[in-house]
This record gives sequence, C-alpha cells and structure tokens, in this order.
Amino acid sequence: MNLSFIQPPQVAWASGALADGPLLRKSTRIQDLTDVFADENARQQLAGEQVVYDVEMLDTSPAEGELYTGVTHLYPGRVGCEYFMTRGHFHARREQGEVYFGLRGTGLLLLQTEQGNARLEKVFAGSVHIIPGFTAHRLINTGEEVLSALAVWPGIAGHDYAALARGFRIRVFEENNRVQAKEVQNG
Ligand code: PA5
Ligand code: NI
Repeated sequence: MNLSFIQPPQVAWASGALADGPLLRKSTRIQDLTDVFADENARQQLAGEQVVYDVEMLDTSPAEGELYTGVTHLYPGRVGCEYFMTRGHFHARREQGEVYFGLRGTGLLLLQTEQGNARLEKVFAGSVHIIPGFTAHRLINTGEEVLSALAVWPGIAGHDYAALARGFRIRVFEENNRVQAKEVQNG
C-alpha cells in the first residue's frame, strides 16, 4: 500500500504568516475598542477603521481535548500615550491555560489573576509564555514594528471579555521616549 505524506499547515517563523490550513481571520479596529484605552477622547480622534490587530487561526475543532492555534499581529501605534494592545480576556473556562510564543517585534504580555495581581513579561522573537489557568492576558506592542505572537489554547477555553470591562490593573505608556508601566485603580 502506498501511503501519502500529509502536508501540514505551516507558520513562517519570521512573519507569523500561516499557510496551507483552513484559516479564519479577524481584524480588530480602533472603532471596536471603545473604553479599552485610558484616553477615550484620543481614541475617538483616530480613524475608526484603522486596524489595531489581526488574528489568523487554524479552523480546527473546538471539541473538548482539541487545541486551537493562532497568530496575533499587533500593529505599532498609540492611543494618546498608551501603546496599542489587544482587548485582553480571561478564558470563559477559567481553569484553561494557553501558551504564547513571540515571533517578531517587541512588546509585553500583561497577565492578571482573578485576585487582581498583575505582572508583565517581555515579548520578543523566541520568548515563551506559559499562561496558567485563571489568568487574564493582553498583548501590548511597545516597539515600532509589528508584534506577532503564536498562541495555542484549548478549543473549549472560550473568551470572557466582560470580566475585564473595567480594565487591567496595569497600563503601559510612552513617556519621555521610554516605556512606562503604571498601576491604576480600576480593574
Ligand atoms: O487566544 C488568545 O489569547 C489570542 O489568540 C487572543 O484571542 C488574541 O490575541 C486577540 O486578543 P483578544 O481576544 O483579547 O481580543
Ligand atoms: Ni486566551
């Protein structure tokens, strides 16, 4: 019997581009991010259709035990002084973790527990981030290039954005040409 060799999906490590898989794509724009940034007036001054981040993921099964694979491309930019970032979320199934791998660019991964303890990990090409269960996560692009990160997470994890409607406890700004992280009271 002649067995064929299956062509798997591929990720171009340098760019994060996915190929040869059934792909899903979603763009998140300035107009989608009401009240996410500290300076809502500054957000409203920007072009609403400007894309802040694109997510490209393999269209695989969401069944229990299955894994999703996706790449986030977070563009450089700021709303006021605050760097572009993803909305951020807890998993709906709180106990489910996730792994992020930095592919290109420079930034931070903001992690926050349900008790409100927040911390920041540096993201760069080759960085590995183990996100435990019960931990909200948000990418922040503090550089001048696209920040791309590969993520693998359980199909059953789901997203809970509402739990963070009042924001994370840390915000990251550019001040005097430097990256400054500040603790804030909301969250
Ligand atoms: O699964 C993840 O954590 C990522 O793929 C994110 O969903 C992605 O970075 C977009 O962020 P958010 O879902 O917070 O808008
Ligand atoms: Ni997640």
